[in-house]
Amino acid sequence: MNEFKIDEAGGYIQLEFAGGPARFHAIWLLDNALDETTRHPKNHQRLITILDLPPNSKITNAKWVGDNITIEFDHTTQKTYPIQFLWHNRYDKPINNNPFQTPENAILWDKTAQNIISTINYHDALHDEYKLFIWLQNLYQYGFAVMNGVPCESGQLIKVAEIFTFVRQTNYGQWFEVRADVNPTNLAYTNLGLQAHTDNPYRNPVPTMQILMALENNVAGGDSIVIDGFKIAEQLYKNNPKHYVLLSNYLAFFDYHGDAKTRLNARVPILEKNLAGQLVAVRFNNRSAAPFSDIPFDKMDAYYNAYRTFAQYIEDEQFMIKFKLEAGQLFIVDNTRVLHARTAFHGHGVRHLQGCYPDKDGFVSTYNYLREKYGNHPR
Ligand code: FE2
Repeated sequence: MNEFKIDEAGGYIQLEFAGGPARFHAIWLLDNALDETTRHPKNHQRLITILDLPPNSKITNAKWVGDNITIEFDHTTQKTYPIQFLWHNRYDKPINNNPFQTPENAILWDKTAQNIISTINYHDALHDEYKLFIWLQNLYQYGFAVMNGVPCESGQLIKVAEIFTFVRQTNYGQWFEVRADVNPTNLAYTNLGLQAHTDNPYRNPVPTMQILMALENNVAGGDSIVIDGFKIAEQLYKNNPKHYVLLSNYLAFFDYHGDAKTRLNARVPILEKNLAGQLVAVRFNNRSAAPFSDIPFDKMDAYYNAYRTFAQYIEDEQFMIKFKLEAGQLFIVDNTRVLHARTAFHGHGVRHLQGCYPDKDGFVSTYNYLREKYGNHPR
């Protein structure tokens, strides 16, 4: 702490933190200055563009003052940075080259998580912000949560979503009905069982979350199943890393034209990684898989092997949480990660669910705000 070393050419400065050294370039420091000419004091938005920064600025001096360091550029400009700000935003750190990575917030789970399903009562979600925060934290980490005691009124799921985010409207409407139908436009509207899937992989961007709420459910069967797609991908990677590479390196193809005026399609991988190598989305939906035509001829057989293996893990009970959604209950999934399924149902009675697609960015924003307010809850 309180030590620094300026590169001879002035291109960067190395700071000694309690946690170790980290280097910062002159251009990065100028771009990320916190003074009122660089950042708006109220909305914190950047007031300069990259073109306002001289391309060859040099660091010419520096001085610690308490927990701040003042850095001089080109013998003229001085900018002051809190040490915490620099430590938090450091980029001089080891690169994670692990070929299997998931986002830091994700806690992967299998059927043993049945005992720790995060559940909240609708009344508490509305009136107890701390309980809501804990519930959202679990949703953030597990990609799945349940709510009880929701009034059984049509469209009520929208009010639930709007507690913490906004709802995306699609060709299915602001919400959609899921019940047996003799002439279905979508297989979800029959009484057949549905293989585990993520919803609407034919959209780009894909719906990021889904709520399914039961208004009535007194049929035999019709249980809900959820599966952590990241856990399945990890299993695939561990047992056959080549399969993981195939499903993440090539584009699958999904489409939907189930009603007269809709023509949706997307060329996207089944396992999507970002440029940092993190698995960020799983797409799996047998019903809307179109002919794959972006996989090279000499990889197609291997790709189908990988696809089959992935599907076999998805069918494996050890990864499934099963429950029956009662009237007034809903579950919410991160549709970029968690697959859902339904067992077949039959006989007398009614199974009437409604579903909608809330946006994850609004949810994450609310969660981040509440985390700032309440801190990290110990698990
Ligand atoms: Fe679905």
